[in-house]
Amino acid sequence: MCGIVAYLGNKPARSLLIEGLKRLEYRGYDSAGIAIMNGKLHVVRAVGRVGTLEEKLDQLAARGEYDGTLGMCHTRWATHGGVTEVNAHPHRDDRHGIAVVHNGIIENYSALKTYLKEKGHAFSSETDTEVLAVLIGELYEGDLEAAVQAALREVDGAYAITVICEKEPDTLVVARKGSPLIVGIGADEYVVASDAAAIISHTTHAFALDDYNVVKLWRAAGADGQMVYEFRTSTIHNVPVTPKIEQLELDLEQIELGGYQHFMLKEIFEQPQSLRNCMSGRIDAKDGKVTLGGLANFARDLTRAKKVILTAQGTALHAAMIGRYLMEDLAKVQAQTEYASEFRYRNPIIEDGTVVIAVSQSGETADTLAALHEAKDRGALALGVVNVVGSSIARQTDAGVYLRVGPEIGVASTKAFLGQVSVLTLITLFMARRRMMSADHCADLLREMEQIPAKIERILEQAPRIKRVTEKYIDRENWLFLGRGYNFPTALEGALKLKEISYIHAEGMPAAEMKHGPIALINEGMPAVFIANKGRQYEKVLSNIHEVRARGGHVIAIATEGDEHIADHVQDVLYVPEISEPLSPMLTVVPLQIMAYYAALARGHDVDKPRNLAKSVTVE
Ligand code: AGP
Ligand code: GLU
Repeated sequence: MCGIVAYLGNKPARSLLIEGLKRLEYRGYDSAGIAIMNGKLHVVRAVGRVGTLEEKLDQLAARGEYDGTLGMCHTRWATHGGVTEVNAHPHRDDRHGIAVVHNGIIENYSALKTYLKEKGHAFSSETDTEVLAVLIGELYEGDLEAAVQAALREVDGAYAITVICEKEPDTLVVARKGSPLIVGIGADEYVVASDAAAIISHTTHAFALDDYNVVKLWRAAGADGQMVYEFRTSTIHNVPVTPKIEQLELDLEQIELGGYQHFMLKEIFEQPQSLRNCMSGRIDAKDGKVTLGGLANFARDLTRAKKVILTAQGTALHAAMIGRYLMEDLAKVQAQTEYASEFRYRNPIIEDGTVVIAVSQSGETADTLAALHEAKDRGALALGVVNVVGSSIARQTDAGVYLRVGPEIGVASTKAFLGQVSVLTLITLFMARRRMMSADHCADLLREMEQIPAKIERILEQAPRIKRVTEKYIDRENWLFLGRGYNFPTALEGALKLKEISYIHAEGMPAAEMKHGPIALINEGMPAVFIANKGRQYEKVLSNIHEVRARGGHVIAIATEGDEHIADHVQDVLYVPEISEPLSPMLTVVPLQIMAYYAALARGHDVDKPRNLAKSVTVE
């Protein structure tokens, strides 16, 4: 689920692989390992950071064993077997010097392991990946590519794998199903990785594998004695495939810190610019018109849609929830949100005229991808709201709209959330204008949208104050986040941000729900963050604030600039500029992101690498 980098070329692989692995560290992992081919297969693994692996490797490297030009490495996010060196990848087979690194899960590993044990094979780890390595070994008859194809025909589950074998020291075989893998093609070199970030410092010429694709990359001496580099792509059934080679649209600057202490902070501060990019060319505020190229051919379906189902996980689900409010309120279409993981297994009813929108930053979230397949199989029009161009969800939907917010490296999603809400607002207006919304109403909202980046800049200027307020409560272990209407999902997002990077327990809920149970938690000094901006339910939120205050809770209110009155009722106020209610989450969420960041920092946590989390969850 985390990182893979593999190299076959004319340069020493070791430093290049470690550099690539460092670029993937942001994805979250618990251990790392590397295999280099140099006459023999040399493998080093370590629990913890890539830096620890590097130190180990440096000590061993003096012996020259790690000087090869073919190798691969991995950051593991344990699914099967504890976080130990023995369970870290690469895993080897027990017969032919085959090594495998793997992202994903081999679901039928247990049955395969029993079968392989009966055949006399020995295992040293608890992982599903080792079973695959041994299976490839069992099927190996002198052709690594054929053995990988044969093994993958026996496997259920998800994988991105790279495989090397001592008996074929100039060959790298890679394959994918359900977990991303990209082949970068340089001059006399190939860099294969699970994420473009590890490739672009070498080449931008690349292709992404499709499910069930196997690529064999190899080198051989040509007639003039020069090494010739070649590759071939096929399916696991050995049917040739022509890959689509494209330019990777990512530049190095976008994936570097550029002076910020953390990617999360950089991405919070990038939000005004990323929203400008997201909206650019899509908004015509003068005529009250939204242009979404990706949806042009589906305008009719959207106009006639009877129901919209928005499906996602985590932060993307919170954005989807705001999308639901927008669609019902502005486009007057029945809308519902679904945890993708639940939707898939619930036997959902999809009637004629149902549009399913999968919302995802990475475009690789396994649950969301599976929900999408379910919806398509049941006849829904499947749309994607995705950030990563060419990702699985982007490729498997009927149509969609990209976020265009640039790569998001921080595990805690920030700018993608704003991009998702912004795109869902645009889709809503695109539908609403074709259904019943007047051009004037739409034009008003679009003009307001254009002002959002500048308004966010004003919130960002308050970061030092938000930091001071956060630090006042930093020793509290339980927080509440409360909001109503459009800002109920914002409350959920505020709580998720805080818990995932500061490890403080936080709960988000509709402000009115509190008195149905959670109010029992409130004791002296418990922080409760209320999203109390001006809107239809402002007075009701004020009443909820009083309920918390009456029980000793400390209230931090996110309020609308100019609302002096609220300061008399709460301990702290953080102001956001005035904005129409449907657009307000795009402002009210920003102070919550900043609070979470400073809370994690004050508690001494690694903001970009929160414990137990992975950037992209490609397992169900
Ligand atoms: C966000 O901060 C989270 N780390 C997580 O909830 C994330 O939003 C979720 O896993 C969905 O990811 P996606 O947008 O890439 O599909
Ligand atoms: N399932 C494998 C393991 O637990 C791979 C995990 C990963 O994707 O990093 O080792």
